[in-house]
Amino acid sequence: MKPRKTLIAANWKMHKNVHDAVVYVEELQKEAASFVDREILIAPAFTALPAVRIVMGRADFKLGAQNCHWEEQGAYTGEISCGMLKDAGCDYVIVGHSERRHIFGETDDMIRKKVNAAFKHRMTPVLCIGEVLEEREAGKTFQVLQNQLKEALAGLTPALAEQLVIAYEPVWAIGTGKTATPDQAQEAHAYIREKLSDIFDKEVANAVRILYGGSVKPDNVDALMAQPDIDGLLVGGASLEVASFKRIVHYQVPGGKN
Ligand code: PGA
Repeated sequence: MKPRKTLIAANWKMHKNVHDAVVYVEELQKEAASFVDREILIAPAFTALPAVRIVMGRADFKLGAQNCHWEEQGAYTGEISCGMLKDAGCDYVIVGHSERRHIFGETDDMIRKKVNAAFKHRMTPVLCIGEVLEEREAGKTFQVLQNQLKEALAGLTPALAEQLVIAYEPVWAIGTGKTATPDQAQEAHAYIREKLSDIFDKEVANAVRILYGGSVKPDNVDALMAQPDIDGLLVGGASLEVASFKRIVHYQVPGGKN
């Protein structure tokens, strides 16, 4: 089995202007060790993408967008196509973040189209899934995850599915300071991998990287990353300061991750 390369992603959401984004990336590239076993993904606001691309000089640093539209072009005021994001230098695009689903009403159908559009433009989609608190309390977490996966991945070929990144982000843990325990996260990740095996096959399930997101902080990163099915992290609040994100990318797992 090929080891899965760790991916540590910074989702800046609607924070940082162009100048602050550039200064941050320059500083992090100077301060963080050069990694061969992990990738560091920065997802700034759309406006900062080209400027960050210019200063992003390290092979282990990747650029991502936080959202996309599935059409190539057209009368869609305020939207950005995957072709445009690729043109701005993106390697990845976050798709179906819970804020997109819950604040902006994105449906599974829209999210499936975005996953396909990202692949079409040779970007890796980071597909976000996760249950809300009421669903967890009602014992429906697995059902929700299964539905979100099936809907978003319908019709995808195994060859593309292998390249996918999934982010498990329990909605009750995002921006709340309430992290899923390492055991809760591992249980969900193992379930997601099992479902990938059902939808596609074992090879796809073993290849897909599954990130955890939701109040990841310097003080919980090591315990989360020690879990066998956690292949990386999607970090919001704690990615906004270089010092805390630097600690997160430098997570330490006794005996090594792979
Ligand atoms: P948080 O956000 O780390 O601030 O909880 C995570 C996310 O929304 O991706």
